[in-house]
Amino acid sequence: MANNLQNTVAIVTGASSGIGRAIAKNLAAAGSNVVVVARRKQKLNDLAAEIENNNGQALPIEANLTSNDEAIRVVDETIKKYGALDLLVNAAGVMLNGDSIETPVGDWDAMVNINLRGLMYLTKAALPYLRESAQKNDRRVSDVVNISSVAGRFAASQVAIYSATKFAVTAATEAWRQEYARQHIRFTVVEPGKTATELFDHRVGENEAFEQMFGKVEELQADDIANTVRFIVTSPRRMAINEVVIRPTDQA
Ligand SMILES: NC(=O)c1ccc[n+]([C@@H]2O[C@H](COP(=O)([O-])OP(=O)(O)OC[C@H]3O[C@@H](n4cnc5c(N)ncnc54)[C@H](OP(=O)(O)O)[C@@H]3O)[C@@H](O)[C@H]2O)c1
Repeated sequence: MANNLQNTVAIVTGASSGIGRAIAKNLAAAGSNVVVVARRKQKLNDLAAEIENNNGQALPIEANLTSNDEAIRVVDETIKKYGALDLLVNAAGVMLNGDSIETPVGDWDAMVNINLRGLMYLTKAALPYLRESAQKNDRRVSDVVNISSVAGRFAASQVAIYSATKFAVTAATEAWRQEYARQHIRFTVVEPGKTATELFDHRVGENEAFEQMFGKVEELQADDIANTVRFIVTSPRRMAINEVVIRPTDQA
């Protein structure tokens, strides 16, 4: 079956809500053993129970990925439990937009720390296992999918540092793609437009900045992004989908 991920192990970050949660469920439904990572343990436990009720396999790991040690622990626990790692989906992120004079510098740090540093730490910790897996697993290929944003392609007023982190994710993903192409680790950057998730609840008033950027649209659903990620990682070994922009149809 083209979309069969039996006998694979996937780490999905940001799995307690929104896009990461939808991706974790989708990959589990395709047969992957899914390691679900975020800070909210109860939400992870609920997700793992839901996956297991649907005959899937899930390992919840509570971790704050702004710490390199935590990222290394996530990979260590994954290897301890499953013995291998085939797929990594970096979806954890926060968006704290607003007037750049008024915004506390801590909000900027928060975005850099998870959107960029967290993704960087976990990717680095995972790479040796992804490389090994691409040599040994049945698929003979491994996957890293990084969730950037349309804000990683276009900068806009009041979205400076969120955009900067997402441009960085897009740049790093392309560099890693080149570095590991011959070792059959596929790197994909996915750049969604406005998607209905908790992302917009992080700070009161921030919607204004985002709406300025994109206008009022019929939002994408997290499952739209998850279905795309499943298509990416179940493509034949010879085929690497490097970059996907997904916008609401009415997002100009
Ligand atoms: N929604 C959109 O319109 C949109 C558009 C483009 C790109 N994106 C990107 O899509 C990704 C997923 O966002 P979403 O829309 O699904 O938002 P969301 O529902 O708020 O999910 C964000 C996830 O990141 C996790 N997270 C945040 N900080 C973390 C930390 N320090 N350590 C570990 N996990 C952390 C959160 O879990 P905990 O709070 O439990 O830790 C949560 O699971 C983000 O990278 C976002 O930038 C979203």
